[in-house]
Amino acid sequence: MASRFTLLFLYSILIATSFRCSIADADVTESAAESGDLLIRQVVDHGGEEVVDGNTLLNADHHFAIFKRRFGKSYATQEEHDHRFAVFKANLRRAWRHQKLDPSAVHGVTQFSDLTPREFRRQFFGLNRRLRLPSDAHKAPILPTNDLPTDFDWRDHGAVTPVKNQGSCGSCWSFSTTGALEGANFLATGNLVSLSEQQLVDCDHECDPEEKDSCDSGCNGGLMNSAFEYTLKAGGLMREEDYPYTGTDRGACKFEKTKIAAKVSNFSVVSLDEDQIAANLVKNGPLAVAINAVFMQTYMKGVSCPYICSKRLDHGVLLVGYGESGYAPIRLKEKPYWIIKNSWGENWGENGYYKICRGRNLCGVDSMVSTVAAVTTSN
Ligand SMILES: *[C@@H]1O[C@H](CO)[C@@H](O)[C@H](O)[C@H]1NC(C)=O
Repeated sequence: MASRFTLLFLYSILIATSFRCSIADADVTESAAESGDLLIRQVVDHGGEEVVDGNTLLNADHHFAIFKRRFGKSYATQEEHDHRFAVFKANLRRAWRHQKLDPSAVHGVTQFSDLTPREFRRQFFGLNRRLRLPSDAHKAPILPTNDLPTDFDWRDHGAVTPVKNQGSCGSCWSFSTTGALEGANFLATGNLVSLSEQQLVDCDHECDPEEKDSCDSGCNGGLMNSAFEYTLKAGGLMREEDYPYTGTDRGACKFEKTKIAAKVSNFSVVSLDEDQIAANLVKNGPLAVAINAVFMQTYMKGVSCPYICSKRLDHGVLLVGYGESGYAPIRLKEKPYWIIKNSWGENWGENGYYKICRGRNLCGVDSMVSTVAAVTTSN
């Protein structure tokens, strides 16, 4: 018993001091829960997708085999294989817990099911943690909210490029930034141009004005506001095809000023008010937002509306719309949600997208929202 407490204690210290992610509470509860229960009895197949339906898994080998085949996984040694299998089983239990906490979404096996929560955060997030807004950030003017549509989706208006994939690199912040500027540039010029994340990964070392040691640093994380600041100073971003994504940050900066495809005119921070967020979205295009992504490792589809979710921000994504329809659990009919573009490829979530409940800053989704405007020049 004593040694278990020591372990838990050490574990929570490790998590709490880890860079840019600290979902300590959730993780500790999780390991406590994992030690005790064997509650998952089966994993049911939903049209080819594997969904943990809340009963234990005696068939883990079988599901691990399907998982490996489906996502083309292979492990170098037997030891690695066994370790990954253990992690997979823990993740099935975790998915089941997420399902209980978040019944309006579907949680289950994803391509990330052989990664521990720590590995997952390190490799697939990439938001430098800070909760205060930069002091010199311009505040977005308050917009009228009386005529907002009930449903709105920038994908229907041609302002959103296809879903991209950050790979095993903590560069989410660069995808959130390009997504917002792609939309703003579309509004300013009428052209939808896919923009280069790699330029940001390689060239943007902008530091936060308030925390000088929090700087954009490639696969080790960054912030969207700093990236907008970099883009403003550098002159703009190149096209994706002229500066393609490699998923590593070991290359030199290859930015060419003559190939700029989109320019930032100004950007600002939107207040923590869901109507203002919606109004800015409709007026200015998709918004760069931060979120706590703990439920996203097991998310498959539906509206994620967990009873409890930490507001510690660790992931940068793109808010592209909102809606009310298609949400029909008995308890919470007509609950509005945000539509979020992620950067984990089209095979994750709903074709690369995530839906999260709107109305109570769930998982911190309303806490760090930025809007950007592009320079109106057609080139
Ligand atoms: C850009 O600046 C203009 C003029 O100050 C302001 O009205 C607008 O809201 C700003 N846009 C963004 C996206 O910050």
